[in-house]
Amino acid sequence: MPYILDENIIRDIRESNDIVDVITEYITLKHAGANFIGLCPFHNEKTPSFSVSPSKQIYHCFGCGEGGDVISFIMKYTNLDFIEAVKLLANRVNITIDEKEANVDLKTKKDKEIATNINKEVARYFHNNLLNDRSALDYLYNRGLKEKTIRAYGIGYSRDSWDDVLSFLLNRGYSLEQIEKSGLVVKHSDGNRYYDRFRGRIMFPIIDTRGRVIGFGGRTTGNAQPKYLNSPDTSAFSKGNNLYGLNIAKKYCRNKIILVEGYMDVISLYQHGINYCVASLGTALTPNQSKLLKRYSNDIYICYDSDNAGLNAASRALDILKEEKIEAKVILLPEGKDPDEFVKENGMDRFQYFLNNAYNYLDFKILFYKKRYNLNTLEGKIDFTKEISNMLKEVESPIERDAYINKVSLETNISIEAIKEEIKQKGQINSSIKDKYINNNYRNTNKYNILPVKYNLEPGHLMAEKNLLNFLIKDKKIYNHIKGRFLPSDFLDQVYRRVAEIIFDAYDNEEEIHLDRIIAYFEGEELEKLKEVINLEDDFDEDEKVKAADDYIKKINYYELKIQKNDIKEQIANIQNNKDSFKGDVEKLIRELCLKIIEIDKELKLHQ
Ligand code: UTP
Ligand code: MN
Repeated sequence: MPYILDENIIRDIRESNDIVDVITEYITLKHAGANFIGLCPFHNEKTPSFSVSPSKQIYHCFGCGEGGDVISFIMKYTNLDFIEAVKLLANRVNITIDEKEANVDLKTKKDKEIATNINKEVARYFHNNLLNDRSALDYLYNRGLKEKTIRAYGIGYSRDSWDDVLSFLLNRGYSLEQIEKSGLVVKHSDGNRYYDRFRGRIMFPIIDTRGRVIGFGGRTTGNAQPKYLNSPDTSAFSKGNNLYGLNIAKKYCRNKIILVEGYMDVISLYQHGINYCVASLGTALTPNQSKLLKRYSNDIYICYDSDNAGLNAASRALDILKEEKIEAKVILLPEGKDPDEFVKENGMDRFQYFLNNAYNYLDFKILFYKKRYNLNTLEGKIDFTKEISNMLKEVESPIERDAYINKVSLETNISIEAIKEEIKQKGQINSSIKDKYINNNYRNTNKYNILPVKYNLEPGHLMAEKNLLNFLIKDKKIYNHIKGRFLPSDFLDQVYRRVAEIIFDAYDNEEEIHLDRIIAYFEGEELEKLKEVINLEDDFDEDEKVKAADDYIKKINYYELKIQKNDIKEQIANIQNNKDSFKGDVEKLIRELCLKIIEIDKELKLHQ
């Protein structure tokens, strides 16, 4: 079925594909003043008359008269029709043309439009409130913001009132239903009354790359909880798919983008002249956000808080970006400072220094694991070296690899030869049998998070995962109890794992769990599975629940060890059947795998 692409998407695609970059993928261009010239691909010529203008983003041939923008170039050059050409360009810059979205029924489109219009009017309203409210303004001035910055980010203030925004919007002619859908008001639990979601907060409008106000973050000026309150997901706003500040960064980031944690970090750095910062809206960085970043920059820096939580988040963000083939760097500020505080206290030059000395992937991971493992113990050294060797096997340049091997050897006193041997083995195992986690030490807490395979779980295992998830959904105390010991990736059932990711994220962000919103992520069979979980009994008393949760975790660990054992057995069989394709010491490899089985057996006994 043919579909009509949204004009805005097309504009986005056009803007994200620099015409010079695109055309040089097909023909050779040379600088000629402000423009580029080359031999025209559309007619035969010996002297170049084909000109490309980077400022106007068009091409023109003075020989044959052919000309147009980046889309028409692709159409003409590759013989594609308009839609196909747009798709090719979208693909090139990682814009997903969601055919579903392109086809969404008019009603949904309309809803979204209304929600963004409402947000826009309210953003203006908040902004005016702020400019007329001495104490709110003082709050921002005291934090060092200038009026120019306040205007650039359209910062506002929501009055401390239960119905200020509500009556503003009703007066503007919006219906209650439309207002509720915008997320700006909340329905009272006992009846039909509504009240303002944001009261007495500094308001940061969240604006997408097409200039639409899609939501808000609101900071208390006092001690109210939570410190930041965000718009809920609505037809216009979906947290994991947007980045705060990208509307501004996109204009300036010819090369770099710095990813920070908070609204104020983005704004403060902007005021200090770094106008290419974005923040991930209070959630852990998502794959979609990474794709979005990749569209605008190929030189990405992460600058999170330098506390433990920040380091963990940076490590995760690095990996997520790596999945999208982005080698980001990490800017590590001195302990205890976020970027906002840091530039305020130390100025731009110091920040620039840390930026110039940002850590690349491996340097950061070495530092990170050095903190995690105790290098004063033998076990810590071994675990650390295994962890790093696992990464080093992917380093293609032998020179680079050698340099890191030296570094690890110095850190641990483990011989260079032993580390090399470790890497070699891992490389072989990995390339010959596509198992990923054999190298993983199963004592790690996040041991299974790279386990991609779909397993048929045993009924007991499935039941344990199901019951644990039910507790977690309904009771934050259980989450607090198991936090850090049990991760979403410890659920082997794919649906449960995704549910867990959503609720862990919500708890981490001090949000309430809305079952209807979780349900909206699933459909069909998956939804049925989720419903089964939710319908499980949960009227135990608190103590019983905590004990039961521990039992479930034990059970899950037990079954996971069993799976791991079976996998290793399979690998051994696999290696024995394909001995010829191995270069290294096969017997040694098998011996090692057998040792692993023995270790697991010990562990399994403990769990029984
Ligand atoms: P931080 O707690 O690090 O705050 O949260 P901050 O950015 O340094 O804010 P200031 O300087 O105290 O004003 C980082 C980000 O996490 C999200 C927000 O996006 C915030 O900017 N967050 C934080 C929430 O969504 N809710 C919260 O309650 C706290
Ligand atoms: Mn801060």
